[in-house]
Amino acid sequence: MTKKLHYFSGLTITVFVALHLFNHLVSIWGVERHIELMTSLRLFYRNGFVETMLLAAVVIQILSGLKLFFASRKNAVSGFDKLHIWSGLYLAFFLVIHVSAVLIGRFVLHLDTNFYFGAAGINSFPVNLFFIPYYALAIVSFFGHIAAIHAKNMKKKVLNVSPERQAYVILIAGMVLTVCVFYGVTNHFNGIVLPKEYNILVGR
Ligand code: HEM
Ligand code: HEM
Repeated sequence: MTKKLHYFSGLTITVFVALHLFNHLVSIWGVERHIELMTSLRLFYRNGFVETMLLAAVVIQILSGLKLFFASRKNAVSGFDKLHIWSGLYLAFFLVIHVSAVLIGRFVLHLDTNFYFGAAGINSFPVNLFFIPYYALAIVSFFGHIAAIHAKNMKKKVLNVSPERQAYVILIAGMVLTVCVFYGVTNHFNGIVLPKEYNILVGR
């Protein structure tokens, strides 16, 4: 039951995260592009029904994931089994902080939680010492979790590549995407002034 719940809420979250990370990737082509795409995507994920489902899925994912973590921690022997449970644990930590921060930013601080909300922490010293690894590990953990699931469930070779090697490809793709997203969210920053209402996020 816990596994089924985790599986189906995982699918819901994966659809959102795919769009969300693509949105961040688009920042490579400029902040305006990022904000434009986020404005369009919000029509989908910020409508009352979808957002309620998404936030409920996040809570279900964390609670069911923690239950799975404690149940399967001792049986994790292979490298991918270990990656599976530890990436899940990091995602639990990240999702609690990330989603609370976004909701507090929006409803308490009355900020538009757009490009600048994420970029503020990543581009401001010394808080970037926390935010860079915090976001980078989140993207890598997401791909690591998927790679481990693939390694466990995939039985077939594709183009003569073994399931384990396919899983490595997923993990490496996640690392490459992380570098590209960071290029996007830092590259344009020097030319841009962080709007002053976001200073509160970085202790200025
Ligand atoms: C982005 C969110 C997440 C997604 C998309 C996701 C997806 C999945 C899926 C689809 C499985 C099932 C694999 C299978 O049927 O073999 C799974 C297993 C697992 N997940 Fe997650 N998960 C997420 C977050 C979490 C979190 C927050 C934790 C908390 C620790 C977690 C811990 C686990 C564990 C321990 C298993 C292994 C269960 C086992 O095979 O014994 N996951 N995850
Ligand atoms: C560089 C990495 C990331 C940055 C800069 C970032 C930034 C943001 C921002 C600015 C929002 C607010 C969106 C809006 O107001 O429309 C948001 C929302 C969210 N993010 Fe991320 N994010 C990152 C990675 C991730 C990852 C890896 C996950 C999941 C594993 C994730 C899950 C979410 C969720 C669930 C929401 C809440 C959506 C809502 O209901 O408003 N994010 N993120």
